[in-house]
Amino acid sequence: MKIRPLIMADLPEIMTIECKACRFPWTIGNVRDSLNCGYVCFGIEISNKLIGYGILSVAAGESHVLNIVIDPDFQGQGYGTYLMRYLLYVAKRHGARIVFLEVRNSNKIAFQIYHRLGFNEIGIRKKYYPSEKGREDAIVLALELREEADFYYVDNQSVSDSDKNRIKC
Ligand SMILES: CC(C)(COP(=O)(O)OP(=O)(O)OC[C@H]1O[C@@H](n2cnc3c(N)ncnc32)[C@H](O)[C@@H]1OP(=O)(O)O)[C@@H](O)C(=O)NCCC(=O)NCCS
Repeated sequence: MKIRPLIMADLPEIMTIECKACRFPWTIGNVRDSLNCGYVCFGIEISNKLIGYGILSVAAGESHVLNIVIDPDFQGQGYGTYLMRYLLYVAKRHGARIVFLEVRNSNKIAFQIYHRLGFNEIGIRKKYYPSEKGREDAIVLALELREEADFYYVDNQSVSDSDKNRIKC
């Protein structure tokens, strides 16, 4: 398993995962713009196959996690948490002191991951997301990053599959 920067050639694989994993997927234009505009974009791969990705912006000491997705075939094995920890590490290394994100009110799995990592609820954005029933609220979460980036992620080299259990939080 390894985490690496995303490149434009990853676009088809990203879109395949996005459409498989998300009820309301980002458009190819959303993803392309993210890759083009200087956002921090990392993928997680196993045996050279992309199984997930995360995108965040960092500016003026603040970071926003814009998307994090794991291929449904690989969910529930710690990869989402692992990738999120890596994103926090990168955000800190880029000078962020605080990280924000929004999560659907109904997305209990993602909420649990963020809560465990120390994110706190700071607000609600009413009817922020499209949903099957019209619109759905977003919960806004924030995490004040610790001083040491290594608290979030220590080994930024490739990690073998056999080490997978080690990284599960
Ligand atoms: C949110 C997401 C990235 C999490 O990735 P993941 O690799 O499944 O996360 P983890 O394996 O680290 O899971 C963390 C916890 O959630 C649990 N979990 C994950 N998928 C689950 C599922 N389908 N059903 C029940 N529990 C699940 C895990 O078991 C784990 O809990 P545990 O440590 O008590 O066992 C992934 O579910 C996803 O891509 N969802 C669709 C896109 C999305 O919602 N992104 C977030 C936008 S804010």
